[in-house]
Formats: sequence, structure tokens, C-alpha cells
Amino acid sequence: MGKKITVFGSFVVDLMGRCPHLPVPGETVKGSLFKMGPGGKGFNQAVAAHKAGADVTMVTKVGKDAFADLAIETMTRLGMDTKRVFCSDQAETGTALIMVDENTSQNEIAVILGACDTISDEEVESVSDLLDQSDYLLIQLETNVSSVRKAVEMAYDKGVKIILNTAPVQPVSDSILSRVELITPNEVEASILSGIPVTDEESAGKAADYFFNKGVKNVLITMGSKGVYIATGKRRGLLPAYQVDAVDTTGAGDAFNGGLAAALAEGKDLWEAAKFANALAAISVQRIGTTPAMPERSEIDAFIKSHEMEEQP
Ligand code: RIB
Ligand code: NA
Repeated sequence: MGKKITVFGSFVVDLMGRCPHLPVPGETVKGSLFKMGPGGKGFNQAVAAHKAGADVTMVTKVGKDAFADLAIETMTRLGMDTKRVFCSDQAETGTALIMVDENTSQNEIAVILGACDTISDEEVESVSDLLDQSDYLLIQLETNVSSVRKAVEMAYDKGVKIILNTAPVQPVSDSILSRVELITPNEVEASILSGIPVTDEESAGKAADYFFNKGVKNVLITMGSKGVYIATGKRRGLLPAYQVDAVDTTGAGDAFNGGLAAALAEGKDLWEAAKFANALAAISVQRIGTTPAMPERSEIDAFIKSHEMEEQP
């Protein structure tokens, strides 16, 4: 088993409808499929890393309602530790309303964080012992800002390497950035955070410099079908993505980030880890749903192997 990962972030229940096109304001569209399942960026990433074979503990918060049961049931079924799931007396378990265009596989999401917007400093402090044992903290921006700040500060003080996935995008303080080992924005997030429109390798490089100047150690910008831009102190470049036919891209970024953390925890370098993460993302977009779309390790290995065979004529 590799190094230990703590994932700190959201659990929400995804209520997903597929429709022939995404409705415009005021329009009602007849959908073709409804699915309810576990989701939330933090939870998706934790399950992705766990199924990829990593030693993962999820820290999140739910309410006292039926939706909370879905978190606990899913973690129990997958053999994940449920001891770090906080429970709110007041707030409800978060939900996400997701619409997916069945032709383009594009989506629209409204996430209502509920309990995940109420994680207190005391609750974060209570996972101090967990962070003591962790090598990586994988964190997003889908819980209350104060909880992200507190978790990052605690992890940094303990020498835990922080992987920050900047979704859903919102301003990130210099103090947080200065503690980040690896930042993983997508093109849109990188553009908003750096103020540099990221469209190609050159502009991605400029955005990477922005993050380096803030003290971030390594930068990885996901650029959809263009691939993944990676910048470390030593090496920079674009790693191509696998080309597959997508049915539902919701959660693809989470598949990527979970896979990335799992591979880094195994000791892979950032380039190898990104290739592994690309495979998780490529498999997940061929499946409907978010958490339930995360592949098993055997599927990831088989996918990578079959694509290596394609590359060699
Ligand atoms: O990244 C996808 C996730 O974002 C969904 O599972 C939904 O919960 C939203 O928060
Ligand atoms: Na999917």
C-alpha cells in the first residue's frame, strides 16, 4: 500500500436528469432519464482514489436525513472509513441538481451544499490525528471557505502535501496558495484565478507562472480534449488526453483528481500520475453518473494497456 491520502470535501446527493437539450430560462424540457446517486466533488474524488487502490480517508459533513444514509451506505459498501463524517443537527445533507444534454454530454449543475457549508474549525481540528498520519491532503473549494483555510493550514503545519483542486472556482487567498504543493485547475478556473485567458500551451504556461509566483510548487491545468498542461520546477509540457466518446462528463474532473492523488501516493512522478488520471477520466465519461462512474483498478490498468497497444502498430 502506498502513502496515505486524506480527502477533505463535499458529499452531496446528485439528482441527475438527462434531456434532449439543456432548457433555457422559462423552458420546460421533457427529460429521458432520472438518476439519484452519491456525488459531491470531494466524495467523487475520494471514491475515485479508493477504487484506484489508494489508502483514503474521507472527511465530510452530512445532515440527519435519508440523503446522509447514502453517504454512509456507499462508503460501507466500498470498505471506506466512515468515522470522519460529521453530522449536522441543523443543516440538511447537500444536493446537486444536474442536467445533462444527452446529445452533447454537456451539463449544468446547481449545488446546494447544506451541511457541507457548515464545517466548523473545531470539526477540522478534530481530524488533527488523521492529518498526522497522512502524506497527502486532497481538497477542493466545495465546502465553506473557512474549513478549507483551516484544513490547509493544519495540513501544511504537519508537513502534509496539499493538492488543491480549484472547483467550484472562487477566489483563493495568497496564504492558501503559498501552502499548495500541487494545484489542479481546469482551463476556466486557471483563467479566472490568474486573470490570464488559458486557451493553449503558451497561455497555460503564463498561468502556471502566476501560480508559481504565489508560491505554488507544481501546476497541472486540465484542458479537456487538448490534454493536460504540467509545469514543475524542472519540466513543462502538454500531455495528450485519451480520445473517447463521452456520454456524461459530470465528475470527470473528480475522476482525474482522485486518480492523480492515488498515483502520486504510489510514488509515480507527476507525468505518470497524470497519464493514470487521464485513464480514470476517460473511463468515467463513458458512464452515466459521478461517484458510480469511478472505475476499479483492474479497469484502469486494462484501459491503459489497451491504449498502449493501439499506439504501437
Ligand atoms: O464534479 C461533479 C460534482 O459536482 C457532482 O457530483 C455534483 O455533486 C457537483 O457538486
Ligand atoms: Na460520468
